[in-house]
Amino acid sequence: MRLRYLIGGLGVASAATLLYGMLVEAERLVLEKPVLRLPRWPERLSGFRVGLIADCHLRDRHTVGLTRRAVRAVLGEGPDVVVLAGDLIAYWRPDVPWLVEEALQDLLPVAEDVIAIAGNHEYWGGGGPELMRRILETLGFRFLVNELLWHKGVAWLGIDSANAGRPEPERLFSDLQPGEAAVALWHEPDCADLLPDGAALMLSGHSHGGQFTFPWGWTPMHTRNGEKYVRGFHPEAPTPVYVSRGLGTTGYPSRLGCPPEATVLTLLPA
Ligand SMILES: [Fe+2]
Repeated sequence: MRLRYLIGGLGVASAATLLYGMLVEAERLVLEKPVLRLPRWPERLSGFRVGLIADCHLRDRHTVGLTRRAVRAVLGEGPDVVVLAGDLIAYWRPDVPWLVEEALQDLLPVAEDVIAIAGNHEYWGGGGPELMRRILETLGFRFLVNELLWHKGVAWLGIDSANAGRPEPERLFSDLQPGEAAVALWHEPDCADLLPDGAALMLSGHSHGGQFTFPWGWTPMHTRNGEKYVRGFHPEAPTPVYVSRGLGTTGYPSRLGCPPEATVLTLLPA
């Protein structure tokens, strides 16, 4: 009998925790403003600021609203460039063009400074990066799938999703000139270990920071290529990597100990 009460109590507590995570934690947007000192960042670009938004998982009015709040928070800091680090959508559906335009409308005045890459979810549900390219380029944003873009004195290396696409980092890095200020954009953070030498920084999302985290960082969620560098700055990686906790959720629409994140990074030479 006692065991039944215990199991029942645990069930109620778990349901209450998930509900709290859905109604409170998943809504509690935090603007992170880390200052990163990078050995390869040049003096001439000291103080360069990058807005970072990841894992919007757009699928409904709620995710659109959260993304708009994140965009406004980032723009309020006046970053030099805004990076969308993949998984902009949850999966392909007929209203994706509307969802994207509605969520990102506040970026339109700075569209030429917005750089997006593909995540694994850009491949889910019958679409693909080329469909996303049409949507984003119509809005005036840059979309890099194994492409190199020079913008504002920085070489931006946008690499295709490791989990769903065909990443070509070696080809991309072969076009890099020695001494260039380079930032790699790769959705899956553990790929920092696979990156060719040459970038000052890699920006990622994908892991959701674990989405549910418990004491000592333990999380029951595991995601391929997002388990070693789970959240925040990792200067110890072969290429220093910053991992956003992202905005959205996968599975149950809830978070715990891991609120959604909008980020403005300030880059300094080490
Ligand atoms: Fe992802």
